[in-house]
Amino acid sequence: MSLELEKILVLDFGGQYNQLIARRVRDNNVYAEIKPYTVSIDEIKEADYKGIIFTGGPNSVYDMNSPHYDKEILNLGIPVLGICYGCQLISWMCDGKVENATTSEYGKIEMTVTKNDSLIFKNVPTDSVVWMSHTDYISQAPKCFEITAHSADCPCAAMENVEKNIYAVQFHPEVTHTQFGKDILKNFLFEVCKCAGNWQMEGFIENTVAALKKKIGDKKVVLGLSGGVDSSVAAALLSKAVGKQLTCVFVDQGLMRKDEGDFVEQTFTKLFDMNFVRVNCGEEFVSKLKGITDPEKKRKIIGREFYNVFWNKIREEAEGGFFAQGTIYPDCIESGKGDADKIKTHHNKVKMPDDIKFDDVIEPLCDLFKDEVRKVGELLGIPKELVWRQPFPGPGLGVRIIGEITQDKIKVLQDADAVFRDEIEKSGISQELSQYFAVLPDVKTVGVMGDHRTYDHLIAIRAVTTDDFMTADFAKIPYDVLSRVASRIINEVENVNRVVYDITSKPPGTIEWE
Ligand code: XMP
Repeated sequence: MSLELEKILVLDFGGQYNQLIARRVRDNNVYAEIKPYTVSIDEIKEADYKGIIFTGGPNSVYDMNSPHYDKEILNLGIPVLGICYGCQLISWMCDGKVENATTSEYGKIEMTVTKNDSLIFKNVPTDSVVWMSHTDYISQAPKCFEITAHSADCPCAAMENVEKNIYAVQFHPEVTHTQFGKDILKNFLFEVCKCAGNWQMEGFIENTVAALKKKIGDKKVVLGLSGGVDSSVAAALLSKAVGKQLTCVFVDQGLMRKDEGDFVEQTFTKLFDMNFVRVNCGEEFVSKLKGITDPEKKRKIIGREFYNVFWNKIREEAEGGFFAQGTIYPDCIESGKGDADKIKTHHNKVKMPDDIKFDDVIEPLCDLFKDEVRKVGELLGIPKELVWRQPFPGPGLGVRIIGEITQDKIKVLQDADAVFRDEIEKSGISQELSQYFAVLPDVKTVGVMGDHRTYDHLIAIRAVTTDDFMTADFAKIPYDVLSRVASRIINEVENVNRVVYDITSKPPGTIEWE
């Protein structure tokens, strides 16, 4: 990363939209990093930030145990924008009054701007809709601040101290429900902080490739490639930096989607310069899973066997040098909630067995959000099918075959799933769906084909829409598409005579069936 890169600090006070704030800043080609409110003022001074955003948070500023910050931060000469709790905190730090309101303001609220020439409200009309979510409110703005907007229940919806470049808004500009939220953040970045907007993925690639070349020198790098977006983009970046010094280990446990293993192999052997090692262990996996029907036991066996095979191969490849992983920014962010020293544990950060020794671990994507990783992937020439791949669980089709897993069942499910995905893509609705796949329940049903009675597998199809995968709604796929899917699966996939569509939302259902 180049030294001149301008940066915005998102100071995390425990709010739920903190990553969203950083992403929205980056949408403007300005680099933003999130730090917990426990970061020291010296670290902030050293980092040379162009601006600081105080995030929201669930606490009350007048509670002495709530997250606060050294008042000196407002005197560093760095522009500040406070959002929600951050807005109240600025008021509290500057001797304004924050109180508990009798009624909370929650949802879409009409806001009126009273200072139309405020830099932060450039291109924002006098009346617009904002997203509010607060119970405390600023009952009296600090003396050195001017109130610049209000709503019916909130006398201070925005305030500013122009001289010190400190701005604060009670609402959330980062969520799409705030009509002119994008403009407000943009105004802070370009009108107040005077950013140039130099965070571009082309520049990221150039700088990262140069840094990787320098760090790796003539040593070797080993990367575990899953075929998912993150490890694929990490592989492509490393390939560009060091070519054949890179070895990618791809474990195909036979539970991927139809032809997916071959597609991954072809992509990385034909389009990129590297050593590609594929370990095919589908047969062993199925034999280890023989007779196992309990979902948790299946998951455990698949996970354990995968890492056994994977680390054994890595052990063979490790000759000093570096181990690389496709860890991305959300896997690394320290949280501003509670114990701020803890880094979130995540499946992308794998624990290496102690006997495997590398000089260091390289994580070339650890500064990027998923949408940025995808952009880098596209720029590096990774095929769209891989870059825009929908989420796929680590245990693969293992969690989509209910009951015992057999080779025959894997084939039935792969074929049915391929038909479903093909029809969704052809019908042009794939972009509207967050995830869509087939499931093979442990059920056979009676049917009739021609003059014959059949007794065959049932296939369930599942498609959901979601923003965060924590909650999800079943997708309202048009009946004519569902009808084509059902008819093609029954005609083209052997041993299937019935198709059902899963209309369960999450909660109470989960997205996967196991
Ligand atoms: P559930 O089924 O819990 O899934 O609603 C939420 C999202 O997580 C994916 N998923 C997994 N991803 N390893 C993963 O990497 C897993 O074991 C796993 N289980 C579920 C699922 O596909 C959905 O996107």
